[in-house]
This record gives sequence, structure tokens and C-alpha cells, in this order.
Amino acid sequence: MADKNVSAVAVTHGGAGGPRENSDACERASDAALATLRGGETALRSAVRATMVLEDDPRLNAGTGSNLRLDGVTIEMDAAVMDHRFQFGAVAAIRRVQYPVQVAAAVLETPHMLLAGEGATAFARARGMPDYDPISERAQKRYREVKDFFSGGLDSNDFIAWRNRDPGKYWNLPASMESTLKVVAGPSDTVGAVVRDAKGNCAAALSTGGTSIMLMGRVGDTPIIGSGLYAGPQGAVTTTGDGEEIMRRILAKHVYDEIGNGVPVQEAVERGVALLPQEYTVGIIAVSRTEHGVADNRTMPSAIKVLD
Ligand code: GLY
Repeated sequence: MADKNVSAVAVTHGGAGGPRENSDACERASDAALATLRGGETALRSAVRATMVLEDDPRLNAGTGSNLRLDGVTIEMDAAVMDHRFQFGAVAAIRRVQYPVQVAAAVLETPHMLLAGEGATAFARARGMPDYDPISERAQKRYREVKDFFSGGLDSNDFIAWRNRDPGKYWNLPASMESTLKVVAGPSDTVGAVVRDAKGNCAAALSTGGTSIMLMGRVGDTPIIGSGLYAGPQGAVTTTGDGEEIMRRILAKHVYDEIGNGVPVQEAVERGVALLPQEYTVGIIAVSRTEHGVADNRTMPSAIKVLD
């Protein structure tokens, strides 16, 4: 969609496969992004602010509300940010922080691009971010569904990546599989934001608790540059959905390049979604210097707010 006579816009989503009723969280997130822009901050700071609002909502799989790993007690989260200068920062499998996206934004200021695991958590503490337990009732309920899935025969479309696979073959948790579950991935409802400021500069931010069925240390598309998100002088793109399928296609960079080649943004995000077979969940939001677009192949809570 072309943003005629409008220069600043904030587009947010609450995850492909999530119920549209969760769009109120996206409305608040997009409002927060525009308020941040009005305060004179950059598109990057505004996208981070919007994503923090989404991370705080326990209905969404990011920050508080993140999915549990297969042990039923551990949460490991991924997040990333990128702006029009190709500046990128990300964290992978970070534990016990309230706002993974804030840590990713802090990584962007270092000489590195991606911090993982214990190092990422230690970096957050060194930057003054306190210990925080993100476990929510939603995550515990989801974990119970995962256990039911395993005991029910591994044939649900909700858990397509694990269908007909024996989790015991891949098990990497300290306790035995039998002692922790009789169990096992489903739609992953990453949250994200793309923002364009009044100068036409764009930025993206993204955060996730991963999929529903995850081995320890599993990292999805979110912190992988070009897969979960990409930004540059042409615009900003974030993706949500089945991370492994998104990574195979380097999806965000693909959509960014289409925009750079002059494809209208709405068409570019729709083409991006169509690259995945229908059985996989995917959603994409994007902004260019003059347009924005939203597309998904399920339901996806989202909100578009323009600064007038
Ligand atoms: N798209 C989020 C994930 O697969 O981790």
C-alpha cells in the first residue's frame, strides 16, 4: 500500500498463526512506536520500543509468554534489530531477560552482530538488565499440549516439523527424555515491528520464544540476518512463522531485494509468503521509503499506524 502524503509509519505483528483478537497488543505497539518517533527518536529505537510492548504481552510468544523448551522448565529466546545503515544486532538462545530485543539493540552497538547463550545473558547483565523469569501460564499450557501431542502419535499438522520423527533420536537435554516427557513443533508466533521515520529511514525489530517443540540450543530464523529480518536504504522486512523453512529461503532478504527491484511492497510480501508451501505457517511485514505491506497464510494479529 502506498503511503501518499505520509512519511512515518509503524507496522507491527503478533505472530503468524496467532488469533486476530491479539491485534490490540499490536495497536498498542504501533502507537508506542509512533510516540517514540514523535519524541525525536530514530526508526530503530521506535521499532525496539514497539517490540518491547509485544514482549510484555503474555499472550504472545516473545519475552514474557515465550514457549518452553522440551524440558518444560527452560526458556531460551531469540531477537534481532537492523536499520537503514545495515547495522545489525542479535541474541540467540538468551535466558532470563525481560526484553531480548533490548539486548539485541545493545549488541548492535558492539563490534559483534550476534551473541548467543550464556554470553548473551552475561552481556545483558553487564548492561544492567536484571534477572527475569519469563515463564507464563500460556507457555505452561502450550507445553501440556506438546506433551499431549507426543502421547497422541505424532500426526498433528500443528507439529509438522516433528511429524513421524522420533525425538529420542535427537534428544540433547540433561535429563532423559522418558523422565521429562512422554512427549513434542507448532506454529511459532514471533513478534515484530517495521518502522519508517519522517526522513524515510527504515528499521526492523523482531523477538521470539521459538517454536513449540525445541531441543536445547535450537535457534530459529529470528536472529539470522536475512532470514527473520533485513533492512537497508530500500526499507525493512520482518518474517514470522516456521523458522527452519524461512531460513532455507533467506526470506527477509529475498523480499527486501524484490522491493529494491521496484516490486510494490504489498506484492513483494505476498510473493514472499507464497514461497512457502501452504502447510507451513508464514507472515511478512515490510516498509519501503514510500509504501508498506502485510501478508500471511494463516491469521496474523497486526496493526498499521501512520503519523499524520
Ligand atoms: N519464527 C520463529 C522461530 O522459528 O523460531
